Amino acid sequence: MADEPLVLGIETSCDETGVGIVRGTTLLADAVASSVDEHARFGGVVPEVASRAHLEAMVPTVDRALKEAGVSAKDLDGIAVTAGPGLAGALLVGVSAAKAYAYALGKPLYGVNHLASHICVDQLEHGALPEPTMALLVSGGHSSLLLSTDITSDVRPMGSTIDDAAGEAFDKIARVLNLGFPGGPVIDRYAREGDPEAIAFPRGLTGPRDPLYDFSFSGLKTAVARWIEAKRAAGEEVPVRDVAASFQEAVVDVLTRKAVRACKDQGVDHLMIGGGVAANSRLRVLAQERCEAAGIRLRVPRPKLCTDNGAMVAALGAEMVTRGRPASSWDLSADSSLPVTDPHVPAPTHDHVHEVSGENLYS
Ligand code: KG4
Ligand code: ZN
Repeated sequence: MADEPLVLGIETSCDETGVGIVRGTTLLADAVASSVDEHARFGGVVPEVASRAHLEAMVPTVDRALKEAGVSAKDLDGIAVTAGPGLAGALLVGVSAAKAYAYALGKPLYGVNHLASHICVDQLEHGALPEPTMALLVSGGHSSLLLSTDITSDVRPMGSTIDDAAGEAFDKIARVLNLGFPGGPVIDRYAREGDPEAIAFPRGLTGPRDPLYDFSFSGLKTAVARWIEAKRAAGEEVPVRDVAASFQEAVVDVLTRKAVRACKDQGVDHLMIGGGVAANSRLRVLAQERCEAAGIRLRVPRPKLCTDNGAMVAALGAEMVTRGRPASSWDLSADSSLPVTDPHVPAPTHDHVHEVSGENLYS
């Protein structure tokens, strides 16, 4: 619909330069330039390399998104950008670019939260998010259970990882198995031909006295690495497919068990799963089975929308405009540890601060 807000979103919190354009909850463009290949030989994302790649990719990616959407920059109703959490230098490139575009075009600027964006992106695939929705966010940087009653203003942390993120565990185990980086997709592939019950790897934080909604993957990672080492030391071949399948099962078993438990405990009957690990084929199947058994509706965006992208930022920005949330000020800064309880960074309400920033920029 033409009266829905047209918003461009910029995402640079990690190694993907994402620029998306949405109208309300309709996706018009999703342009992504990834520097993942430049990090592969290091086995993980190198922040400085990511920042430089964002700088180079920014303008061409914005141009590509505008072309793909078939819209003109002057018709935009707002520019949204990931203000955090993420890599400080990488975020800074996105925030600076968003400010420059917003200022030059005379459009409002919305600094939004990366995690809330991962949840909001589902609106582009399955329509308006039910309120409340439980969200399981699993990526290379985060593993959290979040309860959203209003994605623009009320996102509550229920639990999170106390050590490694789920995606990080996939990446580390892939490294031990010499399968390359990123590890998630390749382990997913090998696991399809392996036996998930071949090896009984531990399920972290599932004991009777453990926190209900927190995760831990570091013990699992060590257990898998030791198991592989022992095989190698004994001169035996490592059954890569069975290790991949058994490791993956241990991760997705705990993730889905805790997510469903949180929904039941809180009386929430919608679960969404987002973040790069949500692309995992076994996670999607097991979550569907367990949600069905518990009477919970599952929403998982298609894999391309699960990994970092600009469309998710645009989706949350559009929701901010629709709900009349205040725009950010021109002194918006990147916040590498922006709390999930802040879905966006509104302009300070303190009169004095307002005056100063207004004078500086408009006079
Ligand atoms: O959300 P994302 O693109 O970036 C972060 O914010 O971290 O997630 C990347 C993570 C990586 O750790 C990658 O190994 C993992 O998501 N991943 C997967 C799959 N595809 C990507 N993990 C498991 N199975 C997959 N199919
Ligand atoms: Zn992410």
